[in-house]
Order: sequence, then structure tokens, then C-alpha cells
Amino acid sequence: MKINGVKGMNDILPAQVGRWQEIERMAREVFALHGYREVRTPVVEPYALYARGVGETTDIVNKEMYVFEDKGEDKLALRPEGTAGTVRAYIEHGAHVEGPQKWFYIGPMFRRERPQKGRYRQFHQIGVEAFGIAEPAIDVEQIAMLADLFRRLGVAPVVHVNSVGDAACRPAYLEELRGWLRARGEVLCADCRERTEKNPLRVLDCKVPSCQPVLAEAPRLLERLCDGCRTHFDAVRQGLDDLSVPYQVNPRLVRGLDYYVRTAYEFTSDALGSQSAVAGGGRYDGLVETLGGPPTPGIGFGMGEERLALMLEAAGRPVPESRPAVFFVSADEAGRREGLQRATELRRAGIACDLDARGGKLARQFKQAERVGARYALVLGANEAASGQAKLKDMVTREETPVALADLASRLGTGPA
Ligand code: HAM
Repeated sequence: MKINGVKGMNDILPAQVGRWQEIERMAREVFALHGYREVRTPVVEPYALYARGVGETTDIVNKEMYVFEDKGEDKLALRPEGTAGTVRAYIEHGAHVEGPQKWFYIGPMFRRERPQKGRYRQFHQIGVEAFGIAEPAIDVEQIAMLADLFRRLGVAPVVHVNSVGDAACRPAYLEELRGWLRARGEVLCADCRERTEKNPLRVLDCKVPSCQPVLAEAPRLLERLCDGCRTHFDAVRQGLDDLSVPYQVNPRLVRGLDYYVRTAYEFTSDALGSQSAVAGGGRYDGLVETLGGPPTPGIGFGMGEERLALMLEAAGRPVPESRPAVFFVSADEAGRREGLQRATELRRAGIACDLDARGGKLARQFKQAERVGARYALVLGANEAASGQAKLKDMVTREETPVALADLASRLGTGPA
């Protein structure tokens, strides 16, 4: 019986994986330039970590998380995001004693959402978290770093920034907003009415067209920020201006996780359709304390690799592929042995090459050379093995050039691969 993979959980096949490797290589490079170091945490964590960290009333925890009991003992969850686990590890290993920390992670996350383009049940995030820095300079550096990563990859999503306030200014605003929304309950959708009571800020994120004109008039937190949040937000804007990072202030930007305070940001692209956010993040100054650590400010983002891959595809970026410089074709047993020996030498010299380990008909071996995209083919038989001389055949032009087998590494190492 044929068994298929789980709905919404995708295979990334060898023909596509070059795209992912390019994204990850570039991310690692950019993060290293900014002092971020990698952390690897488990994909399974205690359920309570997300209930407390991300928030029990969020869709992520409430509706989308894969929760299970470990042989009837602990209630566990597949991680739906990377921040809570990273904060747990930060606290558990007492990392705060060494001063501010900048960490990044790359890995699969799980949310049981309805699958569609850009939305999957297993997806991959590249995320960063910076701990111990309350100053707006780190917000600016992080947003600029992400913009730079996108620029290097040849895409330019739009940056939206907002402030979602803090414990000093948000509670009063939420009460005001709730009252305002209750008064308009009849013209809002059922989801909005439910969220008005549970999580009124999320109402502002509603995508239902009939709710839009109503919500456009809603009171704005950005106009009701306390002095601390206002000063912080102004400094973030000033910093982005100083670095010439283009951005839009979006007073309706709210995030789907409860831990955010002050800065919230998102990178969006039209190329993605309805799931337009390629990355999102913000500040979470209370989270470390909520999860049992010392009071520690923090800020980070998560970027969806699937969505970034879709953007690169839409931008017409080819999938980078590694191709062998040369493919050894064997005409007989002596040629086969010679080929394997030369291939081993080249590989030790760091030159990618391949051969058809099945041997057999020349035509079939050439076909294989073409399929793997080899730059050159080299036919070896008893004569070539004895003389040490062979012909390097260009797979595109079909031109043949004599070559001494002893010179292969230097010829291929310097020439076009
Ligand atoms: P998030 O906005 O929930 O934030 O997710 C970040 C990114 O992950 C999204 O912008 C999107 O690109 C991608 N993503 C989310 N859900 C899916 C899905 N079902 N399928 C495909 N891609 C998806 C967080 O997760 C926060 N932990 C980010 C953060 C880090 N905030 C502070 N530090």
C-alpha cells in the first residue's frame, strides 16, 4: 500500500533544495556579520511553555498547535514558533550572566492551519532573538539586518512598523477599543465579535472586507502611547531614517502572539497573495520574566522560508545547483578503474565530478552526464589509461580538447566549472 505524506507537510526535493541552501547560507552569513550565533533547540517543548509564553487565547496555541501526551505523562507540543523555546533555553542555561546575547535558529515549526499557498502545517523559520538590550538601537539594527538579507537575495518586501504599547499604556487603550468595538458589534463579523472580548487588538487584523471600513476608524494605540513607548518608537524611526531603510508606519499592524510590547514589525510582499507576510517580529520585554527568568528585554523576528522561496521564484531567480565539472565515461574495464581513481583524486582536490557506476553503454553514460549537468565528459578506456592522455569534451559545444590526465585537476580547478 502506498502511503502519502501528511497534508500541509511538504518534501523539499533535491531539484529545489538549492534554493533553500542559498537562503540559509545567506542568512548565516548576514547573521554572523551582525554577531548572531546559532542555537538549536528541540522541536518538542512542554505545552505550558506556549500557553504561558505565546498566550492561551491566541489562535496559534488555542487552535493550531499539535498537542499530545507523552505516554500519559507530560503534555507536550510541537513547536509552533521559535521564540518561546529559545527563551526557555536562554533561562535554563543562565545565559544572561554573560551580558546581552544575539542568537539565531533555523528549523521546522508546526501549525495546524488550513493549507494554502504560503501556508503549511510544517513550515520552516529562520529567526533571531536579541536578549538584554532595551535600547531602540537594537530594534533598528535588526530591521536593517533583515532588509539587507532580502536585498542580498534580490527581493525587496515592504517593511511595516508599529508600536503596540506596553503595560503603562496598553490596558487603558484596550478598554477603550473594546468599548468602541462593542458599540459596533452588529456590523462586524462573528470572529471580530469573539475577539472583542478575548483579544481586542487582534480585531484590527481582520481581513473580512465588510469589516475594513469600520475598523479603519477605530481608535489608534499609536496616538495613545505613554511617553516611554512614544520616545522609543520615535528613536526607532529616526534610526531607520539614519540608515536609509525605507519603511511604512502601519498603526493597524498587530501580531498574532501575545508577548509583544512596543516595536512590532512585518515584511510583506504582493508576490505572496493572501499570506503576504514573509517575516514578522518585535519586542517582548516581559517574556523572559513571564517564563521564570530575570527581567530581560528582548526583540526578534521569524522569517518563513517557504514564503521567501516563493518570492525568489516569483522574482525569476534560478535555483542554484551544484554541477560536476567533469563526468567520467568508461569504455571498458580498464577505463572504469582509471575513472574511479581519477575521480577520487579530483574530489580530494575539491573538484566535483561524477561517473556512472553502472558502466555499460557509452550512450547511456553520456545521457547521465547530461542529466547531472556536467560541464565536461571524459571517455576513458584501456588506451587512455595506458597513455595518460584523453579528450575533454565540452558538453555544450561538443568540442574536444586533448588533456593529460595528470593535469586534470589544474585544468578543471582554474577553468569554468
Ligand atoms: P509569526 O508572525 O507567527 O511570528 O511567524 C513568522 C513568519 O513565519 C511569518 O511571517 C511567515 O512568513 C511564517 N509562517 C508563519 N506561519 C506559517 C505557516 N503556517 N506556513 C508558512 N509560513 C508561516 C513568530 O513566529 C514569532 N516567533 C517571530 C518572532 C521572533 N518574534 C520575536 N522573535
